[in-house]
Amino acid sequence: MKIAMVGSGYVGLVSGACFADFGHDVVCIDKDPAKIDSLRGGIMPIYEPGLAELVSSNVRAGRLSFTTDLAEGIAGAAAIFIAVGTPSRRGDGHADLSFVYAVAEEIGQKLANDAVVVTKSTVPVGTGDEVERILKAANLPVRVAVASNPEFLREGAAIGDFKRPDRIVIGTEDDWARQVMTEVYRPLFLNKAPLLFTSRRSSELIKYAANAFLAVKITFINEMADLCEKVGADVQDVARGIGMDGRIGPKFLHAGPGYGGSCFPKDTLALLKTAEDYEAPTRIVEAVVKVNDARKRAMGRKVIEALGGLDAARGKKAALLGLTFKPNTDDMRDSPSIAIAQALTDAGVAVTAYDPEGMELAHPLMPEVTMCDSAYAAIAGADATVIVTEWDAFRALDLARVKAAMNAPVLVDLRNVYDPAEVRAKGFAYTSIGRP
Ligand code: UDX
Repeated sequence: MKIAMVGSGYVGLVSGACFADFGHDVVCIDKDPAKIDSLRGGIMPIYEPGLAELVSSNVRAGRLSFTTDLAEGIAGAAAIFIAVGTPSRRGDGHADLSFVYAVAEEIGQKLANDAVVVTKSTVPVGTGDEVERILKAANLPVRVAVASNPEFLREGAAIGDFKRPDRIVIGTEDDWARQVMTEVYRPLFLNKAPLLFTSRRSSELIKYAANAFLAVKITFINEMADLCEKVGADVQDVARGIGMDGRIGPKFLHAGPGYGGSCFPKDTLALLKTAEDYEAPTRIVEAVVKVNDARKRAMGRKVIEALGGLDAARGKKAALLGLTFKPNTDDMRDSPSIAIAQALTDAGVAVTAYDPEGMELAHPLMPEVTMCDSAYAAIAGADATVIVTEWDAFRALDLARVKAAMNAPVLVDLRNVYDPAEVRAKGFAYTSIGRP
């Protein structure tokens, strides 16, 4: 089966490469000639574990190719996925759908065979209706249906998530589209991945509801962590204790510096806007957005506290280990490190940092921060070391070496990577999240 993927960013590229790996014939299309050139040369535009290998093996097998020419890319494709960006619109937080609609217009001009057009981009409820309207207005002499098929890929684990999904959601009211989409996902279906068919609008909302719910879960445990610190409880135990209740579940109960990334911040905001437009406000999500925003800068204050308070902190040096919003990505979007670095430099603290993949993208976002070549280089002479992102490389630091390199042995662990008793036994003043 031939599949076209319009948009070769994170979602399009991972999905396209995985579909090809399942044996489909996939063409990834992108307007950006530089991106397509690099992809043809085997250079990935993003860092995602396993992606370069997956792309190159499928290119070699002749199942995956890249083009800037939409007409050529969609020719003969039974399913055409729209996987372009839907960033927050400047000024109001609504999802910017201009790229999605531009692609729909272009498909309307160039489609020459029957095809199901599938929105994979995260789009507000009703976007599929508009895509359908655009395609109908094109008066094509071929059969076209529009379906929604949201992605649930985590950065850093995207290939695994694609190949072993909890579920595949397909939203369409059209029987033929349902058949085509079943064919698209047959390899996964045979692998026992549940296929959930819903209406198109339900499918569009499922994506936002899932992300908002996960954001609520994280924010809930973060607030519990703050309470734990006041009452002398341990948030890890609380998370374990509630997570063992099958109704709650253990995942996404890891307290930390607040969520960031390309999805949760943008999608929660967009959900609020949809809810407002339909006069069905989602107050819980409103609160979550506010609490999470405030938390990031509060983490900066936590570091200042560990440095002895505002007066003592001025002129001291803090080393940030990890800058990306989570490990195994170079993505800096809405990363807590940005607010933390800002709070520290505002307080007159000199900041050094090291991140295995994120420094290039981080640098322009925190120009005052000195980027270092290694964790130990960042730590040298520091008055506090702060674990901001839980990269594996920071899970087993040589603490004796860390202590010897630092000016004062202060460790602020915003991801609860270390065992408090062990670190304190090694002579560190240790602060973590929600633990006594
Ligand atoms: C998320 C969704 O998981 C995915 O299904 C969707 O398609 C895109 O958005 P992603 O943004 O890649 O994926 O990362 P995720 O692993 O979900 O983490 C998001 C943020 O929440 C990170 O900042 C992470 O550090 C934070 N987080 C996650 C916590 O603080 N605690 C947790 O328990 C889990």
